[in-house]
Amino acid sequence: MKVLVTGGAGFIGRWVVKRLLSSDYNVIAYDNLSSGSLANINEFLKNKCFKFVKGDVLDVRKMKKVFEDVDICVHLAAQINVQKSIEDPEETFRVNVIGTHNVLEECRRRDAKLVLVGTCLVYDTSLGKPISENHPVKPASPYASSKLAGEELALSYFRAYGLPVVVTRPFNTYGPFQRSDSEGGVVSIFIKRKLEKKPLLVFGDGEQTRDLLYVEDCADFIVRAMESRRAVGEIINAGTGRDVSINELALMICGNNKMIKHVKHPHPQAEIRKLVCDFSKARKLLGWKPAISLEEGIKKTEQWLAGV
Ligand SMILES: NC(=O)c1ccc[n+]([C@@H]2O[C@H](COP(=O)([O-])OP(=O)(O)OC[C@H]3O[C@@H](n4cnc5c(N)ncnc54)[C@H](O)[C@@H]3O)[C@@H](O)[C@H]2O)c1
Repeated sequence: MKVLVTGGAGFIGRWVVKRLLSSDYNVIAYDNLSSGSLANINEFLKNKCFKFVKGDVLDVRKMKKVFEDVDICVHLAAQINVQKSIEDPEETFRVNVIGTHNVLEECRRRDAKLVLVGTCLVYDTSLGKPISENHPVKPASPYASSKLAGEELALSYFRAYGLPVVVTRPFNTYGPFQRSDSEGGVVSIFIKRKLEKKPLLVFGDGEQTRDLLYVEDCADFIVRAMESRRAVGEIINAGTGRDVSINELALMICGNNKMIKHVKHPHPQAEIRKLVCDFSKARKLLGWKPAISLEEGIKKTEQWLAGV
């Protein structure tokens, strides 16, 4: 089986590639390296079952070529930065919506299965109960709306053409290989600042919560969704079922309130106050549950960032 992973040189993509190679798939990572890097996939380059192709999901000609003999596509390539999407919605729309359309057309041409990696940021805030797939959507940024548009396009291909499509919605994901600069995730950014003995900057009051999913659990979820027949045509969440506030997270990481500083939120209008996942559908359909606790995941991420 040949699997094409778009965004395969990115943070989650490289872990999906690793998980696929460990299950003996032939894997092509297709990435324009706009945010991912060759360093992320360095350990796979000598593997005979792995190939990297540098390319853009907006480059239709190159996509036609790379899709030759592909049986399954896991689509992760995206512009993922919320602030950037607010500043430059057009670029986000092009990559996340037109790029997804291009991927879908190639899947349709080859009758290849598509696993679309969506996001929990499409949901409205939780009012206490964990968020299931039936929870209302309310995208609060061009990033979230472009991802939801990509999902709807994909599901319409399932309905109109019978294309085997699975929509996955991982909650906020963290772990080794995530960027720790301003383009990165909150866990990596906080740990890096702690290692540099700089204060951890919390946006707004810090009472907003996140359900943080360790990246190897996320990759395992995506591959299980890919392998499941029962998942076709479905939307499936993955998270841990436990949320932490950003204040709690900062304290867990640096252990000292004096190292935490509150700053003005750059986009309070796009904030979701409470994000906590109901993953019972993933458990039922895929037999999936997260294996790594937040405490363990933070430790693994810190070891990686510290170069241990
Ligand atoms: N990180 C999270 O918390 C999270 C949570 C849920 C869903 N997701 C989704 O998972 C996917 C991967 O996110 P990530 O956190 O690994 O981010 P990432 O930025 O590390 O990965 C995206 C990859 O896509 C590549 N890319 C961007 N534009 C491209 C284009 N036009 N053509 C080809 N490649 C392109 C980038 O170079 C990068 O390697 C995204 O679709 C994102 O929406 C992420």
